[in-house]
Amino acid sequence: MSDTFSPDRAAADRPVPKAGILDIRAYVPGKATVDGIEHPLKLSANENILGCSPRAKAAYAAAIDQLHVYPDSRATRLREAIANEFRLEPERLIFGCGSDEIFHMLCQVYLEPGDNIVQGEFAFGAYAIGARACQAEVRNAPEPDYRVDVDELLKLVDARTRLVFIANPGNPTGTHVVGSEIRRLQAALPASVVLVLDGAYAEFVEDPAFEDGTDLARTADNVIVTRTFSKLHGLATLRVGWAYGPADMIAALDRIRQPFNTTIPGQAAAIEALADKDFQRASLELVGRWRAWLTQQLGGMGLAPVPSATNFVLVGFPSQGAKTAAAAEDFLARRGLIVRGVGGYGLPDHLRLTIGLEEHNRAVIDALSDFMRA
Ligand SMILES: Cc1ncc(COP(=O)(O)O)c(C=O)c1O
Repeated sequence: MSDTFSPDRAAADRPVPKAGILDIRAYVPGKATVDGIEHPLKLSANENILGCSPRAKAAYAAAIDQLHVYPDSRATRLREAIANEFRLEPERLIFGCGSDEIFHMLCQVYLEPGDNIVQGEFAFGAYAIGARACQAEVRNAPEPDYRVDVDELLKLVDARTRLVFIANPGNPTGTHVVGSEIRRLQAALPASVVLVLDGAYAEFVEDPAFEDGTDLARTADNVIVTRTFSKLHGLATLRVGWAYGPADMIAALDRIRQPFNTTIPGQAAAIEALADKDFQRASLELVGRWRAWLTQQLGGMGLAPVPSATNFVLVGFPSQGAKTAAAAEDFLARRGLIVRGVGGYGLPDHLRLTIGLEEHNRAVIDALSDFMRA
């Protein structure tokens, strides 16, 4: 990938994007429609099937008269609410238009052309897009058993590595890395490398050996933890993400942050969502119960579910014959059930199913049993 001035671009007969941009594969969101089916069920984007907190909805509605007003750039009240909830220093928080924006800010701040990021081979797609936009190299470490492996990551780290990204738990795999392994990774990384711990699904993990990384970020100079209101809190459309990290990293990110990147309704709804423990509990109970059931049912029909710590399950299909993941995705779609093909993540033989309500999960399992028998 070239990082030098290209006279060819100046001489071109039309604007030419800088090197590498057109090599980026644009992010493909989960499908939301099926031709010929009026109200399909969308189980393709890991959204909260229960919607969101009624308190968050009321706060959103109450913001209707402020649409002409610029939001509080520092998200002061939301900042205080998060600092109190997680016992974090408010000055060490930063907000983003979703956590996606924070990954982009990290890339812009730390990556020069020719630098690299290191991630697992099935990493969430946003990291690579952010890195490639900065003309950096993306290094993918093998994930044996669909799990990020600390030693495999470390093998790829060199003098040009600036960022190591881990979604913990991961998407699309749903697997997690225990706290002791994350601490071992941090201890082995050069002090100049930022370790990004993306906790978009952290709330769903039940394993007591899991750590959300905020304790490590409190004391280490190179660890940043990102979180989102899009998953557990069901506020995906409002685009509120946040990060906690060392003060000087947060200050650097803040230099390039768009000043009004979270909105008045978004901030207000997020504050109420954080306070609504009943909604959070109901969401976690639903996911916990049906995750176990789905995993068992999928295994029972001869498919290969990957044990999940999230609100979705990745499931493997035979790579040959009539029972492939692509055929299953079509079969489910014809029954109005939209799930996520993950070929774009290097997993052409898998589908990712967001956990739904009881009737949704039963419908998915009924359809897949018919598919396997057909
Ligand atoms: C692992 C992971 N990180 C981050 C995000 C982005 O979340 P946000 O809505 O906060 O941008 C997602 C969304 O699907 C995700 O799966």
